[in-house]
Amino acid sequence: MRYRINGRPVVGLCSNDYLGLADEVLAIHSPAGAGGSRLICGDLEPHRDVERSLATLVGTDDAVLFPSGYQLNLGVLPALIEHEDLVWSDALNHASLIDGLRLARARVSVLDHRASPAPTASVGDVASWWITESIFSMDGDLADVVAMRRHLEDGGALYVDEAHAFGLYSHGRGLLGEHGLVPTAMVGTLGKSYGVAGAFVAASSGVCSWIRSRARSFVFSTGMSPVLVAQIAAAIARVQGAEGDERRARVWLAARHLAQRLGLDSAPSPIFPIVIGDNATAVAIADALLERGWHVQPIRPPTVPDGTARLRVTVSAGHDLASLDAFAQDLLSLLDRAEIPLAIARGLGSPDRSLEGPAR
Ligand SMILES: Cc1ncc(COP(=O)(O)O)c(C=O)c1O
Repeated sequence: MRYRINGRPVVGLCSNDYLGLADEVLAIHSPAGAGGSRLICGDLEPHRDVERSLATLVGTDDAVLFPSGYQLNLGVLPALIEHEDLVWSDALNHASLIDGLRLARARVSVLDHRASPAPTASVGDVASWWITESIFSMDGDLADVVAMRRHLEDGGALYVDEAHAFGLYSHGRGLLGEHGLVPTAMVGTLGKSYGVAGAFVAASSGVCSWIRSRARSFVFSTGMSPVLVAQIAAAIARVQGAEGDERRARVWLAARHLAQRLGLDSAPSPIFPIVIGDNATAVAIADALLERGWHVQPIRPPTVPDGTARLRVTVSAGHDLASLDAFAQDLLSLLDRAEIPLAIARGLGSPDRSLEGPAR
């Protein structure tokens, strides 16, 4: 979590490398490339091995690897959702989910943040899909797992993007795994807690074979490089074993510690979205933090709703508690000087309803 910006040493507090694994240098001996799409000649044994071990962890029959989470959501949502299906999408869903739904040309109802869909079970061939993140990337809050379970029990279909949760819970699982819940399709990314790159969708074998033949960003793209696959296999062994347990304990300790130093009641995740409000002030405070050796990014619209520019602070297993103490002190004094009361942006701002109705 320590690196240099313009030659000056800083402590990074904006990465998604929650377990502090991304810097590790591994000696990997592997062919460089897959040589083609997985459907042509790029389907290698290591791809299938990693897919099997991810599926086993999540509790599904199968899983499909993609080179990135963005590419995955762009391909999988249009492959799974039929035009006539009902789709419910959380107002603060990530851009890749929004773009995937646009490509699916589905009738989308945008839900208020963390609200659950009306109980409309899938009828005949018309499915009722709920699309949500589990830990929200820009707000760091959690989706309602009880409501998700109910949606599945009512016959609904559930698509959960666990990008920011996967790896943080028992044995390297996500939030749903922690609650023993297996959705219709679960997305995990491998560039955040797993410290590498890439993503997977875990589902039944029928759904996975449909994805392998229908998701255009899978079909028409070169298979993931075997070098990355080998890195992912190594990361799986580390994240799911005793080292992962120890790193998870450290990141949750860091999250609780920073919460306490900032005077917050709890830390639902390692993500602390500190609301500043206007863009210029958010940039000015981030600059002042950088001068003091803290690298934090100001996140502004359109990534977050208008008027909710924020410092998205993240902690990791790589942070020592003394650094977090010093950071909290600097942050609180800069906020004080700017006369901004400390507030955490959990679900703040008006929802983006641009997806509502039949997609354009
Ligand atoms: C919820 C969510 N889904 C998908 C992605 C995209 O994942 P990737 O970085 O692997 O493209 C992100 C990235 O931050 C994300 O936050």
